[in-house]
Amino acid sequence: MDLNKLRHSLSLASSSSELVKIITAFLNTKDLYYGHGTDNSADESYWIVRSQQNWDDKKWNLKPEIKLINKVLYLVEERVSSNKPLAYILGEAFFAELKFIVNQNVLIPRSPLAELIKNSFSPWLTLSAESKVLEIGTGSACIAIAISKYCSAKLIDASDISEDALLLAKKNIILHDCHNIELVRSNLYSNIFRKYDLIISNPPYVSEESFKRLPKEYHYEPELALKTSEKGLFLVKRILEQSMKYLKDGGSLIIEVGESQLELEQYYHGLPVTWLDFHSGGEGVLIVSKEQLLDYFST
Ligand SMILES: C[S@@+](CC[C@H](N)C(=O)[O-])C[C@H]1O[C@@H](n2cnc3c(N)ncnc32)[C@H](O)[C@@H]1O
Repeated sequence: MDLNKLRHSLSLASSSSELVKIITAFLNTKDLYYGHGTDNSADESYWIVRSQQNWDDKKWNLKPEIKLINKVLYLVEERVSSNKPLAYILGEAFFAELKFIVNQNVLIPRSPLAELIKNSFSPWLTLSAESKVLEIGTGSACIAIAISKYCSAKLIDASDISEDALLLAKKNIILHDCHNIELVRSNLYSNIFRKYDLIISNPPYVSEESFKRLPKEYHYEPELALKTSEKGLFLVKRILEQSMKYLKDGGSLIIEVGESQLELEQYYHGLPVTWLDFHSGGEGVLIVSKEQLLDYFST
């Protein structure tokens, strides 16, 4: 189906759900990758329509107007002609049921850490009103903001090496009115001077080899947020090995290493980490305590 036929079909639609069905069928004929906020064409079509209704439930039940159809068509055309992720086209993304502003200076939020944060890290650790948390590589600040919303914490230092990412993170922190988050520009721990109950990170962990094979959509994201050397472990190793210095006694480190899990297990043979399971999908997230790290690295 070409865009003219799509326009015609959409103009005949009598409901929003019909719009979604028609767009889904159209997207299914195109070479697109879904992995930046949705994982299928139906969810993406729903997102297209709902975003143009400002997520207003009342509008969902009205017969689609030509104005809505034109907006939706524009978005579909942009998505299929550029392969740009919808989140960047719309400037919005969702994480832990919270809405974030995104632009191409930050990774589109999609970490399985959302599930853990929504469960306040239960049963793995308990944060209190006195807890201090460090997030390394905050990007849009989605993780720091979700922690601020769902968990107790006195302070969350949200760090990133990218000035542009931190500018966007600031907008999201203001949007969500989070008063316990401090943004820090830092190359890993270079500008970090506190000790924490929890250090959490979703660092870049895509190896140079894997990066070349990623679908077009990923190449709209900052390389700095995805790609790293040493088979995807360059930053992970440094976060892990230096974390003991920045963790309080009894503190924990949580890192997402995704597809680099096997590589990490081979490199740190016998390191007693726990790999977490997620009901809503995702893998390659480990938790390890300061004491476990001290034991491992002292022998
Ligand atoms: C995978 S993204 C994660 C963004 C966000 N936390 C999320 O989960 O959506 C990794 C982030 O690490 C940042 N980063 C890359 N190298 C870094 C470094 N050496 N020190 C601190 N942050 C770094 C990138 O700018 C990027 O924002």
